[in-house]
Amino acid sequence: PKAIFIDAKGGEYEVDVENGQTLMEAASDNMLDGIIGECGGVMSCATCHVYIAPEWVEKLEPAGDIEESMIDVARDPQENSRLSCQITMSDELDGIVVHMPVSQF
Ligand code: FES
Repeated sequence: PKAIFIDAKGGEYEVDVENGQTLMEAASDNMLDGIIGECGGVMSCATCHVYIAPEWVEKLEPAGDIEESMIDVARDPQENSRLSCQITMSDELDGIVVHMPVSQF
């Protein structure tokens, strides 16, 4: 499956993501600099913060409490904010559109 990452300037990057891989891992494998993923995916950094395109939000498992509290410390959290290290690719998410924030700090 593929994910489409869009940076804050509108640049689009279509990236192959293996099933079971997280969007944070896929972004770092593809050197997308809009996502950092400093903690390696253990929900302690929030530098993998992204905005999920509205039409995809409901296809995801809702964020848990720890993820929610980390999103609160991310820069400029919105309703559709998620941590990309907590989104695992599957066939159902093929084509998911993910917006990257202006900055992770
Ligand atoms: Fe650190 Fe997602 S990579 S919270």
